[in-house]
Amino acid sequence: MFDTMTVTKVGGALCGALLIFLLLNWAADGIYSTEAGHGDHAEAAYVIEVEGESAEADHGDAAETVDVAALVAAGDVAKGAKLFGKCKACHKIDDGANATGPSLFGIVGKDVASVAGFKYSSPMAAVEGDWTVELLNTFLTKPKVMVPGTKMSFAGLKKDADRANLIAYLQTIGN
Ligand code: HEC
Repeated sequence: MFDTMTVTKVGGALCGALLIFLLLNWAADGIYSTEAGHGDHAEAAYVIEVEGESAEADHGDAAETVDVAALVAAGDVAKGAKLFGKCKACHKIDDGANATGPSLFGIVGKDVASVAGFKYSSPMAAVEGDWTVELLNTFLTKPKVMVPGTKMSFAGLKKDADRANLIAYLQTIGN
């Protein structure tokens, strides 16, 4: 029934199909990695091979910076306004209205710890620079990690999207 010729042909066809399948898989993998290279999750999958040699700074920071700005630019201001409910116990948004925390009017881009009439903790007062979108993102992830000893008693916002939406909202006030 099966002569050598048929066996060879079928075998050859199968090998060819397998090869194409493998090539497609490989190509798809390549495309996936480049496209998803910016996302946090793809990053995590990727880091395994890179982490050992290149420090966090290399990989993390550069990618993070791009991500935060992009996330905030695409942030949902209405959702951010809702999230601000978590801050309202201590912060007012109106200019000059300090409460437990300083007024957050125009906070994006403002000098850290510079709201007139608010008495900051010394660790917070010692933070240099402006509240860039990136710095706010870092602070709001876990305030006590970025500013150990801050008197802002707030655990932080875990979700990237929540922080981005909130910062997008803050940006619309006084900026
Ligand atoms: C339990 C009270 C409390 C809550 C809730 C709270 N904060 Fe604060 N926040 C403070 C206090 C107090 C400070 C001053 C910290 C210091 O001096 O160490 C502060 C400082 C800040 C600063 C620095 C302001 C500056 O002038 O440099 C920012 C930004 C900030 N808070 C944002 C937020 C956001 C956004 C939320 C909601 C997600 C929030 N905070 C929730 C109490 C709070």
